Amino acid sequence: MCSIIGYYGIDTAAPILVKGLKRMEYRGYDSVGVATKSEDRINLKKGVGKVSEVNNTEQLDKLPGTIGIGHTRWATHGKVTDKNAHPHPSNSGRIAIVHNGIIENFSELKKILEKKNYTFKSETDSEVIANLLQMHYDEKSDVKESLIETLRDLKGHYAFVAMFEDGTLAAARFHEPLIIGVGKESYFLSSDVLGFIEQTDDAIYVDNGDFVLIDSAGLQICNFDGTPVKKQITKVSKEFADAYKGDYAHFTLKEISEQPDTIIKAGENTIEAIEQATDYIKHAKNVYITGSGTSYNAALVAKYLMSKYAKIKLEPIISSELPFSPDSIEPNSILIAISQSGESADVLEAVNIAKKSGAKIISIVNLLTSSLVQESSVVIGMNCGPEIGVAATKSFTSQLGIIYKVTEKICAGCIGVDFEKISALIAKILSSHSKIMEVAKQLKDVSDIYILGRGIHYPIASEAALKLKELTYIHAEGIPGGELKHGPLALMDSNVFVVIINPNDSTYNDTITSAREIKARGAKIIGISDKKSDVYDYWIEIPTIEESMFPIIEIIPIQLLAYYSALEKETDPDYPRNLAKSVTVK
Ligand code: F6R
Repeated sequence: MCSIIGYYGIDTAAPILVKGLKRMEYRGYDSVGVATKSEDRINLKKGVGKVSEVNNTEQLDKLPGTIGIGHTRWATHGKVTDKNAHPHPSNSGRIAIVHNGIIENFSELKKILEKKNYTFKSETDSEVIANLLQMHYDEKSDVKESLIETLRDLKGHYAFVAMFEDGTLAAARFHEPLIIGVGKESYFLSSDVLGFIEQTDDAIYVDNGDFVLIDSAGLQICNFDGTPVKKQITKVSKEFADAYKGDYAHFTLKEISEQPDTIIKAGENTIEAIEQATDYIKHAKNVYITGSGTSYNAALVAKYLMSKYAKIKLEPIISSELPFSPDSIEPNSILIAISQSGESADVLEAVNIAKKSGAKIISIVNLLTSSLVQESSVVIGMNCGPEIGVAATKSFTSQLGIIYKVTEKICAGCIGVDFEKISALIAKILSSHSKIMEVAKQLKDVSDIYILGRGIHYPIASEAALKLKELTYIHAEGIPGGELKHGPLALMDSNVFVVIINPNDSTYNDTITSAREIKARGAKIIGISDKKSDVYDYWIEIPTIEESMFPIIEIIPIQLLAYYSALEKETDPDYPRNLAKSVTVK
């Protein structure tokens, strides 16, 4: 996933573009570039690194001109190099483009263009867009016509912005986000409203299969065959403007700290949808639940809860595995799709497959303007505000909050969830950082961490491992407690740390036994529990609560542990290497 941005207005474009790119850096951050138009020429600068680093060396924000485009990259085709960074100019240098997505037929297009003597400077799929536009523009001498021809040639999914040397901005959307920001005397083109929210809260969401032209005559939106379409301006929710770190050192810490609030808000913007989802699930023959990464871990909690309390069997499926699953989704089923971004390509593909089998889709999603929302019969909003830190934190507990709310509705209040109480307990855990910071220091030079949990705590062990991997780059693995003796015990020695998720509930005694077996092999034990034990080398205390509710509170100290360990290891907790916030490519 990358971010693209364009600006057409009366102010100097480059500083506006750089600011917008900084706010969208969560989308991809291995390299960055800006191109502007001034005096009928295109100026272009780019380089490898974060926006502020490259801006310091290349002075991106000093480029002249009131029209420009910019990009932050998450490498898919081609290594992380200056040459592969966007924008990419066409051979003549008269057009420059920024692109997010994948051009699937780029090698065929490249061959066609090479036969016509076009040369390529990068290893990217994106550069073909610049030269295709150039080829058609040379033939047609008309931006709109050349755009239509180019869109006919492209296969894949993409959003791109092209800047022509006469200053026209041309953009197109096909299965990747593109939003227009409408200012007083300016237009923005962006992957995310965060790219322009500081300038305007008037936005137009470009539909899939539409393109945009902005020039001195104003704004035109057309579908891919060139027919003009009318679009309404919508006010972007002010909450998007919240995407500031404020006094926090990192977005990740800010987002972890927001959880006393976000757990209460989960689903509150879509109360009726919770009712409707309940009804669908109760009457469905088969219910499947899918997601990727953290969202899949939430799906595992859902399976446990629904089965135990609502007596409903859910089958969890990792989204990326569904295309390879030998058992198809049964007709007349429900698929619950969980996705913070609503843009994960794997989740969208799973949804697509399920819909072909006639399944209805219930989605649990944070971004209510996302592609997943368009595909769903019922949409429950996580309602946790923008999550910028690449590792999911508050969105996970919001997903859990919704799963608890739906389960509770189905079983007519049998769990007795009290979100006010949970909120207060999360706040209590958050206020006692010092022990967690001390434990984080011990993890600095550790190469392997295992996390043990039984029953409903196993999905939390998986989620804990994911957080530790992403934020600290330490190898981490979640293990169902009982599986220890079936293999992982062989790995235990004095170099290993094991986190035991061990609240004082029905899993406690078995898990304490596992902890003793591990300790006997010399490994260090970190106990996450409401009950002290001599087996723990380090005890991170959590408050006591009903057994069913522990998952929501026990993940909080682990998020903090991963965060503080990242600080110890001097990794960047907001932007882990090689990752991107939402994976819109397969
Ligand atoms: C982990 C993480 C990823 C995402 C996964 C799904 O911290 O952030 O594993 O959970 O890429 O993303 P969404 O929920 O946007 O579909």
